[in-house]
Amino acid sequence: MTLHYATQNSATHAFKDRLDALCEGIPQLQLLTYYEHPLPQDKVDVDFQRRGRVSACAFSDKDITSRARFYLCGPGPMMQGVTEALLSRGVPRFDIFKEEFRSPIGPLTGVNRSFNVHFARSKCQATWTPSDGSLLAFGETLGISMPSGCRVGQCESCVLGVIEGHVSHLTPMLGAEDDKCFACQAVPSSNLVLDI
Ligand code: FES
Repeated sequence: MTLHYATQNSATHAFKDRLDALCEGIPQLQLLTYYEHPLPQDKVDVDFQRRGRVSACAFSDKDITSRARFYLCGPGPMMQGVTEALLSRGVPRFDIFKEEFRSPIGPLTGVNRSFNVHFARSKCQATWTPSDGSLLAFGETLGISMPSGCRVGQCESCVLGVIEGHVSHLTPMLGAEDDKCFACQAVPSSNLVLDI
């Protein structure tokens, strides 16, 4: 396992102690740290190993021919660039996994609507307004046990069946279907009956 971790410099180096501890405890883990703009006091091979950003050039031919899996996490443009370069080097698309940096959704503004939401199996009904946020947040404030994981639209563990009505997703959700919603990103766009 090699973790290619990129940041600006030592001032933005998150989880440094934790990553160092993981490397100590996991002999199979190699950590390569990249600084794009090292500070004058940042030392190569002490604070970081490589200057610049992570690109597909960082991966050796052996990584490619040994069918390594690539797990990318970061801003969209970086992941897109690395993905395209990996594909051009022959890595199958299904060996590339991605998780985009995204913020949890905040309060909705500029929307002035309310809808009745019926959590069918929980036998609970309430009126949703924009200040209630996502269906996940809304259900939790009503005391309903809602499945969830990342809360930013990545893990899909919050998927719910939509028995009646329609939802909107606040971020584009690949794989969203009419009879399902991702509760951490979904808000009602009509009265709703949910399968929970
Ligand atoms: S909780 Fe992960 S996608 Fe909704």
